[in-house]
Amino acid sequence: MEEDRIVSARHMDEDVGNEYSLRPQRLNEYIGQEKVKERLSIFIKAAQNREEALDHVLLYGPPGLGKTTLANIIAKEMKGNLKITSGPAIERPGDLAAILTTLQENDVLFIDEIHRLNRSIEEILYPAMEDYALDIVIGKGAAAKSIRLDLARFTLIGATTRIGLLTSPLRDRFGVLCSMEFYTDDELMEIIIRSAEILGCSIDKEGALEVARRSRGTPRIANRLLKRVRDYSEVKGHEFIDYKTARSALELLDVDDMGFDRIDNKILEAIIDNFNGGPVGVETLSYFIGEELDTIQDVYEPYLLQKGFIIRTPRGRMTTEKAYIHLNRIEKFNSNKEQLSLFEE
Ligand SMILES: Nc1ncnc2c1ncn2[C@@H]1O[C@H](COP(=O)(O)OP(=O)(O)O)[C@@H](O)[C@H]1O
Ligand SMILES: [Mg+2]
Repeated sequence: MEEDRIVSARHMDEDVGNEYSLRPQRLNEYIGQEKVKERLSIFIKAAQNREEALDHVLLYGPPGLGKTTLANIIAKEMKGNLKITSGPAIERPGDLAAILTTLQENDVLFIDEIHRLNRSIEEILYPAMEDYALDIVIGKGAAAKSIRLDLARFTLIGATTRIGLLTSPLRDRFGVLCSMEFYTDDELMEIIIRSAEILGCSIDKEGALEVARRSRGTPRIANRLLKRVRDYSEVKGHEFIDYKTARSALELLDVDDMGFDRIDNKILEAIIDNFNGGPVGVETLSYFIGEELDTIQDVYEPYLLQKGFIIRTPRGRMTTEKAYIHLNRIEKFNSNKEQLSLFEE
């Protein structure tokens, strides 16, 4: 199951505890995402100069890339309080109204998984975002009347793994849209070295880079792998984590050279062996390998696409030459490559 995978980007119970202490607190401690950081620091400065609230921010991208962390940092930089909730947690319009009315100037309301917000609740957000106003209806039937309450000038930060599922009226009300990218190995190495310092374990550059290379471009996974490698190194009585220790530990954990595990390889194998390299629809694929569609779309596919192991075509997913090489199926590549060339640019 996805939940048991050490390279799952999703939050797991074992992450609680140190996820908080490992979280950077300030924008200048936040490693990578240079484009996002630059835009945010400009908008934050501008808002501070004008003594206004920061415009609403939408953060989108795969899990574990630092969206919640950024929301915390933005609230700190704006010197406001942070209120955290999520799309599925807000069940009734009253729940949201109650939260909105407690917000003060410069506070940040963070709504995680905002694509899962109920439509009737979403509509309350529109005037709140646009005019800092809350419309409430008092009474019933003919006696009912609507009154408008003023809200404090707050900032909404929405986070989503699936920007495509957001309705356009909601998306259009965010002034700042930030796409979160996978981290480079060097950025992850920096994150690992920083985390190791906080956790009080020693790791050299080569050791950190080896952990970085197998972390699927994702800080959450990097931190998790670091903790497991630290355990291994302690049990083995090593003084610090070097390349060799990191490598043996990761091999023991079944994380391969690419940071792929059984399920990634299962996806690639299925496309090559059962669908002749594709194209195959992602629904068919999910059914075929018995993994949830959401998990494939949020976690696996983005990374396989980014690394160039699969491509997306109008008729479905196809494996690229890299996948055939990775799985030692180069002879199959030769018979499938004509089909692939129709789609590759
Ligand atoms: N840019 C970063 N620099 C350092 N650590 C980071 C960074 N982004 C994320 N992390 C680490 O990864 C963990 C997961 O990040 P989080 O913000 O919870 O991701 P998301 O909300 O996108 O799923 C955090 O606890 C933090 O320690
Ligand atoms: Mg989060």
